[in-house]
Amino acid sequence: MDSKTMAARVEELLSGMTLEEKAAQMIQVPYAIVGREEALRWARLGAGSFLHVLGDDAREIQKTAMEESRLGIPVIFGIDAVHGHSLNDHATIFPSQLAAACSFDPDVAYVMGQVTAREVATDGLHWTFAPVLCLGRDTRWGRIDETFGEDPYLAGEMGAAIIRGFQGDDLADGEHILACAKHYIGYGEAVGARDACDTEMTYRKLREVFLPPFKKAVDAGVGSVMTAYGAIDGTPFTVDRTSLKDILRGELGFDGFVVTDWDNVNALVRRQHVAETARQASVMAAKAGNDMIMTSTQFYDAVIEAVRAGELEESVLDEAVRHILTVKLRMNLFEKPEKAGRPGCLGCAEHLAAAKDASDRSLVLLTNNGVLPLQPSVRKVAVIGSNADDIRAQYGDWTYFTHPTPNPEHEPVRPYVTVKEGVEAACAKRGMACVYHRGCSVLDSEDEDIAGAVEAARDADAIVLVVGDVIAQTGEEKDRAVLELSGRQMELFDALRALGMPLITVLVASKPLAVGRAATDADAFLCAFNGGLFGGEAVAKALFGEINPSGRLPISFPRASGQVPVYYNSLPGWHKQAGKGYCDLPDTPLYAFGEGMGYSAFAYDGLTFDAQTLEAGVNVTNTGSMTGTETVQAYFHDVVSSVLTPVKQLIAFRQVTLAPGETAHVTFRFTREDFSLVNRREQRVTEPGEFELMIGHSSRDGDLLKASFRL
Ligand code: NOJ
Repeated sequence: MDSKTMAARVEELLSGMTLEEKAAQMIQVPYAIVGREEALRWARLGAGSFLHVLGDDAREIQKTAMEESRLGIPVIFGIDAVHGHSLNDHATIFPSQLAAACSFDPDVAYVMGQVTAREVATDGLHWTFAPVLCLGRDTRWGRIDETFGEDPYLAGEMGAAIIRGFQGDDLADGEHILACAKHYIGYGEAVGARDACDTEMTYRKLREVFLPPFKKAVDAGVGSVMTAYGAIDGTPFTVDRTSLKDILRGELGFDGFVVTDWDNVNALVRRQHVAETARQASVMAAKAGNDMIMTSTQFYDAVIEAVRAGELEESVLDEAVRHILTVKLRMNLFEKPEKAGRPGCLGCAEHLAAAKDASDRSLVLLTNNGVLPLQPSVRKVAVIGSNADDIRAQYGDWTYFTHPTPNPEHEPVRPYVTVKEGVEAACAKRGMACVYHRGCSVLDSEDEDIAGAVEAARDADAIVLVVGDVIAQTGEEKDRAVLELSGRQMELFDALRALGMPLITVLVASKPLAVGRAATDADAFLCAFNGGLFGGEAVAKALFGEINPSGRLPISFPRASGQVPVYYNSLPGWHKQAGKGYCDLPDTPLYAFGEGMGYSAFAYDGLTFDAQTLEAGVNVTNTGSMTGTETVQAYFHDVVSSVLTPVKQLIAFRQVTLAPGETAHVTFRFTREDFSLVNRREQRVTEPGEFELMIGHSSRDGDLLKASFRL
């Protein structure tokens, strides 16, 4: 259907709708909360959407909506398929967004989106509430795992790619689903990382730092956007017309529909106290540009009454319904209310292979004194730590263990491989012995046995200690004030370290914890974050050199909780320039954005930059003895600018795989806009003057070659 025919069809539908039907179309009903009977009642009223309902339950609702509501408008079903369609027991569970971002490869995100879409579609659903495009800058926040890390450029590249994977070229296609860029905007920037609180955001900062990933999402054709819980300068984002109307629709040209986050309308009354009644809140939310209202079903009666009382123009509802119907038509739901999907594809071999690849690519090796890869002289490995064998911790948030209602007792569904299982299998294959001891849990518990772990490890040749966090420490409303290793994990590390044997620390966690000496005093430190089904197998492969770790950090590791937020693209300050940090700690991160090593090393030389064509080139050589993949990173710095600008900002990266001794000439072509800033009038401009281009291995100064130029 071309856009003209589609617009005419929308107007035709709209003109036949009653006020009640328009209000209902704007409602998204939470199935898990209201239950089947109430859900069916909403379907008969013509509710536009339902969330958190799977398979046959969804089919029943769709049938009811199409056959028993007056107009038979199809329902659109939404689900949080955040790293795979993981609320379904049989889905392919991918690494978290944060772990996937370590690949620095948009293709990994693309495939993740494609596979997830296929599985969601096969389950009869249409729409995922992903990707998260919030930035992970304050790592105390409970939802860091859901981000693509701290950097707007990387988050935008990964976000646009996963959106293309979810949506494909045509939303009407049976294997593709609607994506949702969330949370618009600045959710991760809550003060003190207190989930869903206000932000210290200005519109200039919003445009400079937080908008770019959403711009890329809109450019990639994202069909829906979810609002954020927080507030900007005292105005809840839910009712912020500037960001929702002027910026999102006016400037970015977004043409899909906006959905609120969970119960945002009621929150205006009960939590944020900017409205006295549900009616007032509903009017505010509708006027600000929210098209679909998640969970706050009071909105239905409220807007009907408000329109009748002359408090709200019916045209406001028309506009919202227009956006929703347009997307439903683009998805061809009127003709095919259920996506065809690909029967039998959930957890199929092809999808599992994609998940394995993503897990392999998400590992970041941060310290290695040569102990890795493990040598054949190692005859016995001791795997220690409860996270080595906790599939819940390995998955992290947003699986059937955590949503739609927390269910940690849920029986884990195979296939999956924990670190313990992965290392056991790798040892068995090589005729090596392997022993496991949990030592202590991640949270304090009564059955700790650190002495037992030390005994178990004593006659091994290498120790693999897995530390991290658990699902009780990650997710909504699970922010942490203390990022140091919880429970007795550090004591366990110290006890094992005292054995004086080769000791490798592996981090299975939702975020960069303040791991301290558990990383720096280990012989090697491997960051795995939440690696999905095959996270444990990937770790084992890396330990034994079956893969050469190639991930890079999309987020900085703090030295201590008190240093947070710490991110590479900070603004300059006087004392920082004088080289000072805190009086008790350096101000640099423990591990920096972009950092990561493998079993090969890369040397850079011959940086060139042409200020006329804006082309740069650099030679990268694999100086190691193993084929490896390097991520060549390009940053810039505006030397003198009208507003403070970051000390460096990523503007491009390229990956090259090089054989030992091989050199590649890597080139970049920039645009003037790559060197832009947002000025005091909130305009994105490139100011003439001196700039610095930095290209190299990571965001650390010592890893970068520099070229100065003028624009
Ligand atoms: C609230 C979360 O903030 C959001 O990310 C999610 O999509 C919705 N709940 C629906 O589960």
